[in-house]
Amino acid sequence: MADGWDAGTNYERYMGRWSRRIAAEFVEWLNQPRGLEWLDVGCGTGALSATVLERAGPRSLLGVDPSDGFIAHARETIADPRARFESGSASAIPAPTASADTVVSGLAYNFFPDRPAALREMQRVVRPGGGVSFYVWDYPGGGMGFMRAFWNAAEALDPAARAQTEGVRFPFCTAELLAAEAAAAGFRDVTTRAIEVTARFQSFADFWEPFTLGTGPAPAYLVGLEPSAQAALKRRLEAELHAPGPVEFVARAWAVQSTT
Ligand SMILES: C[S@@+](CC[C@H](N)C(=O)[O-])C[C@H]1O[C@@H](n2cnc3c(N)ncnc32)[C@H](O)[C@@H]1O
Repeated sequence: MADGWDAGTNYERYMGRWSRRIAAEFVEWLNQPRGLEWLDVGCGTGALSATVLERAGPRSLLGVDPSDGFIAHARETIADPRARFESGSASAIPAPTASADTVVSGLAYNFFPDRPAALREMQRVVRPGGGVSFYVWDYPGGGMGFMRAFWNAAEALDPAARAQTEGVRFPFCTAELLAAEAAAAGFRDVTTRAIEVTARFQSFADFWEPFTLGTGPAPAYLVGLEPSAQAALKRRLEAELHAPGPVEFVARAWAVQSTT
């Protein structure tokens, strides 16, 4: 399934602005000492990486992502001599064994096609006793409110859309199942918590426009529809959300923290 991870500016409009707010609480929760070497897997445009640089006082940070467009965006927008961004996948992280003090990942773990391989790689690159921690949206619990609103309307018009919803694709994104996957990979001291922010859109247009940019699963679904089906979906959402006024949703992530 094509998730449309390519254009950095579009990602920032759709998701980066919310990811950054979750990242701030996540980094605070990790409460790591300053001066560590960090590695961010699935770094995308650098939402979590930038937060680590701003708040955690790292000695160095390596961000890895398979999207050349996102890596280019991260390199252009994060001018910090401690940071480096490289193309690569979670199942073959381009870093030496035991080269990081702490490995993190934001909103990416569910997109890794081979999660056990990704956890093994995180285990390999972190120094013994280091941390491996990540967060993903609460898709199965409907905790990503604005996506849920989009897909509810899409499914009402096109029942086949259900197979593409993140709740169906990523049923393991619950606190219990994520913790179980980390424990099965051999990580210790696994703890989880919810991190919530309010996603507030100034107007219906502010809510709708990022979906039209094609970056991410729901936007990729929208731009794949015929123009008449796109218009019908927009009309339905406008009616449901009582456009044009401001709209607010809860955006809830599950965060997992562990040590090796
Ligand atoms: C929702 S974005 C999250 C980006 C960023 N970490 C953030 O918090 O905004 C998901 C990211 O997972 C990346 N991704 C997809 N498959 C991957 C893989 N096999 N290995 C590493 N990253 C992957 C995508 O390229 C994309 O940047």
